[in-house]
Amino acid sequence: MKILVTEKQIETRVIEIAKQISIDYTDKPLTIIVILNGAILFAADLIKRISIPIQIDSFAISSYVNDKSSDNITVRSNLKLPINNRHILLVDDILDTGKSLQYLTNYFTKFNPLSIKTCVLLNKNIENKCIATADYTCFYIPNKYVVGYGLDSNEYYRNLPYIGVIE
Ligand code: IMP
Ligand code: MG
Repeated sequence: MKILVTEKQIETRVIEIAKQISIDYTDKPLTIIVILNGAILFAADLIKRISIPIQIDSFAISSYVNDKSSDNITVRSNLKLPINNRHILLVDDILDTGKSLQYLTNYFTKFNPLSIKTCVLLNKNIENKCIATADYTCFYIPNKYVVGYGLDSNEYYRNLPYIGVIE
């Protein structure tokens, strides 16, 4: 395993992003939607550093099959809380093609939230070719398949405390 982002680098950056979110959403009704399963570790570390009152919910879609992006996105698990009259921040593990974030943004728009923004741990959109953008990005990374800190390869490696590339 080649380590791309260390545990310490993640911790430092997550604290910075959490501070920024706390400033940007001061006095605003914010619901953080954690996109399962990839964002669980990132979201857990992020939300405990957010210093303003927030609601937390989760949502699950499935799109990746055998480490390949698929066009058939389906809802696996839906929200519990209403999101109208709330600002929504989607927290996901990675922005790759952007299909997932585009699907999610379109999906949640139908429920009339006050706003929808996106926050990702990793962003492969260095060349601006993705069909979605992230409002908050912890790390831009090259176009390689990465695992760890929530990200999987065939459901393994999610428990690694760092981001790595399998060698
Ligand atoms: P997108 O729809 O192509 O942007 O892909 C988003 C989803 O695909 C992410 O939420 C991940 O679950 C998964 N994914 C994309 N790239 C990687 C990777 O390098 N490692 C692990 N999962 C990935
Ligand atoms: Mg995902």
